[in-house]
Amino acid sequence: MTDTQTRALIAQAAAVRLNAFAPYSKFKVGAAVIGASGKVHTGCNVESASFGLTCCAERVAVFKAVSEGETAITAVAVVTDMSPPASPCGACRQVLYEFGKDAVLLRANLTGEVLESRVGDMLPDGFDGKAVVEAQKR
Ligand code: THU
Repeated sequence: MTDTQTRALIAQAAAVRLNAFAPYSKFKVGAAVIGASGKVHTGCNVESASFGLTCCAERVAVFKAVSEGETAITAVAVVTDMSPPASPCGACRQVLYEFGKDAVLLRANLTGEVLESRVGDMLPDGFDGKAVVEAQKR
């Protein structure tokens, strides 16, 4: 990714973060993913009064992307107002992994701090669909 692409993806995640519906936690998160098509899909966290139904920004972004026809992601930016920038939760790591083990993961905040890694780095030896497909053959 070029610096320009990195900055643009983080800017989109920061912009959608403003739409976060987080009246309970007040913890606003924005995410932006690049799909295999090259298109960017964004998401924010959406909380429920029944707390367990809350959906994180990363999963909203991935599910929006998949619902638009993407089958994989090549990059994801996650923006919070935290220093150091916050990490995706375990559930989001799993979903990101299934759609983009090698995707660039950018964790950023509002003051310009950026941590760059790969999705797979955050979920070593992760669970993917291969085992499930194998089991169907039995
Ligand atoms: N949250 C995210 O959106 N992404 C994460 O990876 C961690 C947590 C949201 C869920 C909830 O709305 C709030 O942050 C506090 O957990």
